[in-house]
Amino acid sequence: MCVIDTKSLAESYGGAEAVGDVSLRVERGGVFGFLGPNGAGKTTTVRMLATLTRPSNGEASVVGFDLQNQGPAIRSRIGVVLRGESYEYSKTVEQALELYGMLWDIPRSTRSDRIEHLIDEFGLT
Ligand SMILES: Nc1ncnc2c1ncn2[C@@H]1O[C@H](COP(=O)(O)OP(=O)(O)OP(=O)(O)O)[C@@H](O)[C@H]1O
Ligand SMILES: [Mg+2]
Repeated sequence: MCVIDTKSLAESYGGAEAVGDVSLRVERGGVFGFLGPNGAGKTTTVRMLATLTRPSNGEASVVGFDLQNQGPAIRSRIGVVLRGESYEYSKTVEQALELYGMLWDIPRSTRSDRIEHLIDEFGLT
């Protein structure tokens, strides 16, 4: 299965080209190195594939879903770490667990019990 498949993906900001014409395929289980000089458009490409920004041109599918029309299906199936920016560092342990609990659809009541248990279990009070 092809997990990432792009055809002539492009992005421009106010007429300035950030990504010109990216066509690539990544197979399931593969490790893909995406290299280029500063400003080449790597981050912008990853942001498009993660549905954080809309392509101005081209098309792509991610884990079998169409980038233009199936953003929610893609978002619920992928994980992305952009640079070192990590949301969790600005949060308490409790807030971070709360966030992950919500992302995994754990009901509110179960969530708070489990968070309390885990924080205690790992001595993080
Ligand atoms: N939000 C934005 N608005 C305007 N221009 C942008 C925006 N984001 C990126 N660009 C421009 O698009 C081009 C590609 O940037 P991008 O950040 O994708 O490159 P990169 O390959 O990730 O670079 P680096 O190696 O420095 O991380 C650059 O010229 C950049 O200035
Ligand atoms: Mg970058």
